[in-house]
Amino acid sequence: MIPVNEPLIGEKETEYVLDCLRTGWISSSGKYLESFEQAWAEYCGMRYGVAVSNGTTALQVAVACLDLQPGDEVILPTFTIISCAQAITYNSGKPVLVDSDPQTWCMDVSQVAAKITPRTRAIMPVHIYGHPVDMDPLITLARQHGLRIVEDAAEAHGALYLSGRGATTAGWRRCGGLGDISVFSFYANKLVTTGEGGMVLTNDTAIAEKARSLRNLCFQRERRFYHTELGHNFRLTNLQAAIGLAQIERIPETIAKKRWIGETYTNRLKHITAIQLPVEEAWARQVYWMYGIILDESSGMNAVDLARKLMDESVETRPFFLGMHEQPALINMGLFQGEHYPVAERLARQGLYLPSGVALTQAQIDKVIETVEKILA
Ligand SMILES: Cc1ncc(COP(=O)(O)O)c(C=O)c1O
Repeated sequence: MIPVNEPLIGEKETEYVLDCLRTGWISSSGKYLESFEQAWAEYCGMRYGVAVSNGTTALQVAVACLDLQPGDEVILPTFTIISCAQAITYNSGKPVLVDSDPQTWCMDVSQVAAKITPRTRAIMPVHIYGHPVDMDPLITLARQHGLRIVEDAAEAHGALYLSGRGATTAGWRRCGGLGDISVFSFYANKLVTTGEGGMVLTNDTAIAEKARSLRNLCFQRERRFYHTELGHNFRLTNLQAAIGLAQIERIPETIAKKRWIGETYTNRLKHITAIQLPVEEAWARQVYWMYGIILDESSGMNAVDLARKLMDESVETRPFFLGMHEQPALINMGLFQGEHYPVAERLARQGLYLPSGVALTQAQIDKVIETVEKILA
């Protein structure tokens, strides 16, 4: 079986974790936590990093930092993980959706302006499968309307975005360094993993403080067991951060490997007309977190059919996201009634991703490509 993902854990990870065990720093404080937060914030070009238990809780904390009032709206793509929408509903907000760009599969930024109302407070772009969202138009809209940007970079560690193109000040910036608040996941299939883990990044001192407080039950510095606000235990451990720090030290190699995987698939699958492959816009350097393909309807198959055939040949895949507007849990809350997003609906039915993990070998990639060719010949 060729797994859809396998993490790569090196000697450094083992060394750092053993150091935690030997010194007894196994819980949620310690030098690895501090170094991990600082190193990741710096890598992304942000001032503060607040490590949390996973990407879902990072989103929950990030949205809580917006201080939404009941009914305040946040605009996000329908094509994303449920963590995005529920971070908004848990914080009394209303998720407002836009469709996807058919090429990048990220939110179609041209649809955002029409969704802004007097209740809009924020935009939540999500960099999908390693390709950046076109952020400049969103940053302009946010400035014009006084909105915050909560950037979900959970799938885009190290991806680059050419900001301010056309201007003399144009420059490449890291995903996760473009919003007012950004979030990452460090789940085992991510380019940087801590097993489970996440982080909230920001340049704003007050937001960083609030995120730190929310992560740790809103204990007060002056009097520990006295609370003026309710928070959570969303802490990451020093043990997990030790793994993460070792992973950050290796990020250039990880990105190079991911880009090699992506480019190899693209070069050798592009002759198959029945599938659409990931793109890399001129203003983007993507990291191919997962290598997605869209099956043309003319093949007579949908993604489930193709996944089954690939599985029969021992190639594991995963289906694409199902849009938020098609989620019973959200529809039952009265959200998105009668709304349709044709691009996301097609992605959900015709899209899947191929084995894409950093541990993938040349022989495995060859086998995946040959199997896809055989099925779609
Ligand atoms: C875009 C996006 N946001 C948030 C998350 C949530 O991260 P986690 O699984 O660490 O809770 C994920 C998970 O993969 C994701 O893909």
